[in-house]
Amino acid sequence: KKNVWIDCDPGIDDAIALAALAASQDLVNIHGISTVAGNQTIERVTTNALKLASFLKLNVPVVKGAEGPLIRAKEDAGHVHGTTGLGNTVLPDTDKTIVEGNTLQFVRDSIMDLPEGESMTLVPVGPLTNIALLLKVFPEVTEKIDEIVLMGGGTFGNRTPTAEFNIWGDPEAAKIVFDSAVPKVMCGLDVTHKCGLTRQQVEDIYKSDQDIQHKFGDMLNFYFDSPAYINSELVHIHDAVAVLYVTNPEIFTGIKVNVDVDCTDDINRGMTVCDLRHTAPDIKRDVLLLNDIEVDKFQDILLAKLNNL
Ligand code: BDR
Ligand code: CA
Repeated sequence: KKNVWIDCDPGIDDAIALAALAASQDLVNIHGISTVAGNQTIERVTTNALKLASFLKLNVPVVKGAEGPLIRAKEDAGHVHGTTGLGNTVLPDTDKTIVEGNTLQFVRDSIMDLPEGESMTLVPVGPLTNIALLLKVFPEVTEKIDEIVLMGGGTFGNRTPTAEFNIWGDPEAAKIVFDSAVPKVMCGLDVTHKCGLTRQQVEDIYKSDQDIQHKFGDMLNFYFDSPAYINSELVHIHDAVAVLYVTNPEIFTGIKVNVDVDCTDDINRGMTVCDLRHTAPDIKRDVLLLNDIEVDKFQDILLAKLNNL
């Protein structure tokens, strides 16, 4: 089984990513969940993560991470995920609480305490603030991270024409992560925009007589109704795509590239600059840029996971 740590900002697609992970415990050993300000404030996304963990019967530690980007002013995505971060969906209250103490230390120890020969797959699906801090403060983790499978970036943008929301939110953190020595998989818009669920599929989940599927269908309906999907046949469930890469890498295609991040304040702020044509011969190409996926299989696998909850 793969050892997995997920860093998230739930967030509707983050919620689906957690659900997909919870349904994959035959393949993954989930060590914990950290939160980061992104789609909503750190307080809201942390409350959501706690409620989701309980709702999904995920008995794993939840730790509260960064309340904002390394340098930039924070900006949420309430227009896509709603004021709470989970649309209009109300999840049951929980008495689960965060693990108090130093969050980075906790993540570091979870990685370093893995048995000899084992390593952690990090799955960040929000701004990369926590991961950048972890790599800088505790560089020894590098040795025990198998790969970082991140949702973010791409060769085009959604927050701006050239920048994706998670990278735009904290470009300096993203640069630290892309410059690190850890193997990286960029599950960005190139692949997340090639897959998703149809209205009918979302409706079927929503209409389920099981409360758990009904709630996730309710969130997805809200997401589908956001301005981004006005003319779209598919709702792109970005963060769940990263989880599916972890569990089902065989349905993806990608190329190895170098990725740099635009950390200016200009029009390309937060752009992931991908060396697609391999222009610089000596450059390190240590990022697997996912650029295609078998859509039918994506849908079948994701729906099966959601049905198995
Ligand atoms: C990313 O931005 C967020 O709104 C989503 O949760 C996802 O992580 C997509 O650009
Ligand atoms: Ca997210």
